Amino acid sequence: MHCRNATVGDSNAAMPRNGRSGPIAWPSEVPTDAPAEVGALSRAFQAMRSDLRAVLSGLRESEERYRRSIDSASDAIFAIDPITLKVLHANRKAGEVAGAADLTGRAFLDLHPADQRERGQQFLSRVTSMGEGTLPDIDLCCHGGTRLSVSISASVIVHGAGRFVQLICRDLSERKRMERELVQAEKLSTVGVLAAGILHELNTPLAYIQANLEASRKAARRLPESPVARALDAGLDDALEGVQRATTIVRDLRIFARSRDDASGRFDVNDAVRMALRMAQHELKYRATVLTELGEIPQVLGQATDIAQVFLNLLVNAAHAIASGSVGQNRVQVVTGVAGDRAIARVSDTGEGIPPEVLPRIFEPFFTTKPEGFGTGLGLAISRDILRRAGGDIRVESTVGVGTTFIVELPLAPAGPLAHLPEHHFG
Ligand SMILES: Nc1ncnc2c1ncn2[C@@H]1O[C@H](COP(=O)(O)OP(=O)(O)OP(=O)(O)O)[C@@H](O)[C@H]1O
Ligand SMILES: [Mg+2]
Repeated sequence: MHCRNATVGDSNAAMPRNGRSGPIAWPSEVPTDAPAEVGALSRAFQAMRSDLRAVLSGLRESEERYRRSIDSASDAIFAIDPITLKVLHANRKAGEVAGAADLTGRAFLDLHPADQRERGQQFLSRVTSMGEGTLPDIDLCCHGGTRLSVSISASVIVHGAGRFVQLICRDLSERKRMERELVQAEKLSTVGVLAAGILHELNTPLAYIQANLEASRKAARRLPESPVARALDAGLDDALEGVQRATTIVRDLRIFARSRDDASGRFDVNDAVRMALRMAQHELKYRATVLTELGEIPQVLGQATDIAQVFLNLLVNAAHAIASGSVGQNRVQVVTGVAGDRAIARVSDTGEGIPPEVLPRIFEPFFTTKPEGFGTGLGLAISRDILRRAGGDIRVESTVGVGTTFIVELPLAPAGPLAHLPEHHFG
């Protein structure tokens, strides 16, 4: 077999031939139509070569795909050396978190704040000996000296003769924020229960304050005319007006805080609007002129207190979208009416408006643009839930710098006794 040692296609191969020395110009490929064994061998080598090329290019593609998927992952992913704990590779997100374009060669433990490096080290030695592990909560140092809470899941990956540790670090900040908001929401609901009890207790003293003030005013009016009697009468008038206002607020809040075990019912949408306007008055009066156009509407299905809560949320949001001070220039308007078999209420404001990138998120639970401690981001999520349970819905239209309108729809209650209605109407 003359060709056993020849490298097919290797143009640098040079061998003495027939005892003569000097380089020989081998053909770069043995022709596949060469006679007998040589031709067969050549064809076999050619086929092998093209198979190898296909495998190699497949490998390159899959490596590229893997690299791209690691790079576009939303988690920070590191490959580190199991002995030196130095970074071998880090994806784009990891670079963004650490604020460095290339982390290769950096000691991974240095990416933890100093007070957490020991924990990080213990975790990594556990992973290198056990082959995998998770660390539910540890911090990474971020660009600008801040910290990012992450959970790390790690595994030792063996490839060929080598090994590396892959660390997938998931950002926990959103989850932690939601947990904080949930605690806040729980606290608010506890305060709500407490407030309901206090309101109940306030009812009785308010009733006898009112009764006594009325009796005193009657008696004062029987006094002989004098400056003292006039002052007394005016003072008692003011006190009575104040106590009546307090009684209205307590009544509204009590209705509002009442538990909702009776989910069925029908009511006048305008009553719910009026109740919400009374409760939001304090928020609105220094910011906007309130206008109402309450049309004639048949009753709708649902609970007045739930729907009043929706309007209260919308009115408070409207107030918060308007800076205080220019009451004359700003407007919050509520218009109600009927369209087909739906009652429609439009709550609009001349506030700052909602930017288009924020608009799709405003109904998400816990989404808020208000500073921490000022909004739970639950108002609109709860409102939409209440309306959908009652068979209605809510939409929004907004222009930055012009204002926002929320459109509330509710199904009208059909004529006839409620008991004849299909069950889902009772939400
Ligand atoms: N009338 C409005 N004008 C401008 N932005 C609004 C208006 N109503 C809602 N938004 C935006 O929608 C976000 C979500 O509103 P939502 O009522 O759900 O929560 P919040 O008002 O921030 O907090 P919470 O109501 O729980 O106290 C607000 O943070 C704000 O960015
Ligand atoms: Mg709100």
